[in-house]
Amino acid sequence: MTKTTVTALSRRSFVLGGGAGLAMAGLPGGWTKTRAAPTREIKLRAGPATAQLAPKPHPATDVWAFNGTIPGPEIRLRQGQRVRIVAENGLDEETTVHWHGLRVPNGMDGIPHLTQKPIAPGATFTYEFDVPDAGTYWYHPHQSSSEQVGRGLYGPLIINERNPIKVDRDVTWVLDDWRLTQEAAISGDFGNRHDMSHAGRIGNTVTVNGRIPEHFRVRRGERIRLRLINAANARIFSLDFGGHDPKIIALDGQPVTPHKPDAGRVTLGPAMRVDLILDMTGKPGEIFRVSDRFYRRAYRLLDLTYAPQALRENVPDTPITLAANTMPEPDVAAITRHEIRFNGGMMGGMMMGGKRGSGAMMDMMRSGKVWFINGVSATGYVMDPLLKLELGRSYLLDMKNDTAWHHPIHLHGHSFRVMSRNGQATQHKEWQDTVLMAPRERVEIAFVADNPGDWMFHCHIFEHQEAGMMGVVRVGDGRVRT
Ligand code: C2O
Ligand code: CU
Repeated sequence: MTKTTVTALSRRSFVLGGGAGLAMAGLPGGWTKTRAAPTREIKLRAGPATAQLAPKPHPATDVWAFNGTIPGPEIRLRQGQRVRIVAENGLDEETTVHWHGLRVPNGMDGIPHLTQKPIAPGATFTYEFDVPDAGTYWYHPHQSSSEQVGRGLYGPLIINERNPIKVDRDVTWVLDDWRLTQEAAISGDFGNRHDMSHAGRIGNTVTVNGRIPEHFRVRRGERIRLRLINAANARIFSLDFGGHDPKIIALDGQPVTPHKPDAGRVTLGPAMRVDLILDMTGKPGEIFRVSDRFYRRAYRLLDLTYAPQALRENVPDTPITLAANTMPEPDVAAITRHEIRFNGGMMGGMMMGGKRGSGAMMDMMRSGKVWFINGVSATGYVMDPLLKLELGRSYLLDMKNDTAWHHPIHLHGHSFRVMSRNGQATQHKEWQDTVLMAPRERVEIAFVADNPGDWMFHCHIFEHQEAGMMGVVRVGDGRVRT
């Protein structure tokens, strides 16, 4: 990746200096078009590679990877910067790249057939856009995602704040799980009926940044900003930082009032991100266990291992609140409400339909479609919109999970506020792009439809998505290319 030189940067910021805070009039949602730095050029190549996922003496695993590494290279940009990413397809099948959570123009969103032609084997596609918001994001193909992401195609995408908070270390943990055979090969049973109609493809091997870690070395008195990204197809994580007291400062890249996680556990459904402030309050030489307690059988993720020397006696007392991003505030007084119902899946051995249109749903289930949004099971990316929204208006989606399963529901092109859960107002009205819905849960989200185009709205358990749990939300009057 290219590095911006200091001289170019400072000259640029000098020239832009006084006008840097000016929002460009006429841009939806007050997106600011300030350029923090010259356009960054990045090359990403999706192709076969090998990775030592399981520790030796297990053999290395054949994977698909961006630029040969798991995860793919960490792309770091500055808020307001423009980026040009040339994506080359070194696979034997079509692909695309999607910038999960970033509010890019529709034509840059990476949806095959809907926003672009898929990238053919050997071909390239150039993505170019401004990054409006700071935060923790990630990238992954949006074609055959269950298999392509499941084989290792993903990477972190970090947008630095204009005025970052002060920490000793800024660390990214990309969490993933893999379904490996005894020979440490990726099990080829992608898209099987069972995964699709139950919890999705849950693996048997959990990695952090592409390996099974033993220790994460820390020092007493250290303050760490820990960026967690769940890149797994289907696994939900609920991390317990054994004896530590993490504070959540951002969810899905978006700042939130710093707070302790519920029951002390940091929970992330697939595709979700959490930024934590982790203050190292243990003593030199101590070891603490970080475990994942989401499923019945808890397991050790890794150990926090304290160095014999402290960094300082006490952790710093500097502010940890992040500056707000650029999302427009939904106008609750003039909000339009839509109902969204999620149905389908197995339940006690029976496929579960629902009240609405259950006859048609039963027919579709027989033809391999398992999940439904408002009675429709998607068969591809090009479809009639589930919702047609007016550009610039505020919307509230009243979403009900009428299934026996968790679903992380993701909307493209926008972030939304999570307003309530089961009728109870949320404490932080957190901005998210992916909201985890528990079985039977009802969640209300609100946002301004300020980004024109056809946007995907889907469950981020890829096996659920591919078995029908997706739709298109049209903002404005249809497709917008760039
Ligand atoms: Cu992470 Cu529709 O995507
Ligand atoms: Cu789902």
